Amino acid sequence: MWPYPKIVAHRGGGTLAPENTVAGLRAGLAYGFRAVEFDVMLSRDSIGMVIHDPEFGRTVAGQGSVPQTDAVDLAGMDAGSWFGSAFRDEPIPFYTQFIDYCKAQRIWMNVEIKPADGFEADTGAWVAKVTRDSYAAELAAGDPAGYPLLSSFSFEALAAARDAAPELPRGYLLDQIPADWQAQAQELGAVAIHTNHKHLTAELAAQIKAAGFGLFCYTVNDAARGREILAWGVDGFCTDRIDLIGPTFA
Ligand code: G3P
Ligand code: MG
Repeated sequence: MWPYPKIVAHRGGGTLAPENTVAGLRAGLAYGFRAVEFDVMLSRDSIGMVIHDPEFGRTVAGQGSVPQTDAVDLAGMDAGSWFGSAFRDEPIPFYTQFIDYCKAQRIWMNVEIKPADGFEADTGAWVAKVTRDSYAAELAAGDPAGYPLLSSFSFEALAAARDAAPELPRGYLLDQIPADWQAQAQELGAVAIHTNHKHLTAELAAQIKAAGFGLFCYTVNDAARGREILAWGVDGFCTDRIDLIGPTFA
């Protein structure tokens, strides 16, 4: 039901490196993490880039937005200086660079499809197709532990991912679990519910597990809380505090 790693580094390397950068993947590896969550959004020319915010201003300086900027220009932007001068000129990665790095280092990927407004279906379909093509050998081998897991808060994006590459597993991200969660998850063919641990209860966790879904939480930065939700039957969670909560945490 959850063939994937239990503890996952959030946005690359959590709080130890600028989010959604290769430096983040390197930081995760330095702490023994071979499991990562990160965010993918389409550029103006429909190329998947690893970045969280559609608008510039937080992790990259200036004005403008990801969906209004071509990939080659995004890839030249400094996504590291906001975090620290040691990371100056750390670029916004192409999704394909993250795939290459993760495959080379045997890092499991939870790919969060993070569409800019209006690009939900395009982003879901693009991420699904590129991921399927990159993981064709793993998919043919038939061991789910080797498959990346796609996830999204966007029902539309996940539906498009399902239609483009039904063989890839999908997790449905829900900040708060609505009453009709199971019908929605079934329509998406989701294997797992990904949810905000702050709103999860032991009862809800038990319901989700009893219904046969994987259950993954974001973003757990406190070890006691991590132990508590794992005891509820949560299968895994991502963390920013990769220095406090290691890959073998239980
Ligand atoms: O995928 C879990 C988590 O990353 C969702 O929230 O905003 O950090 O992408 P966010
Ligand atoms: Mg995310």
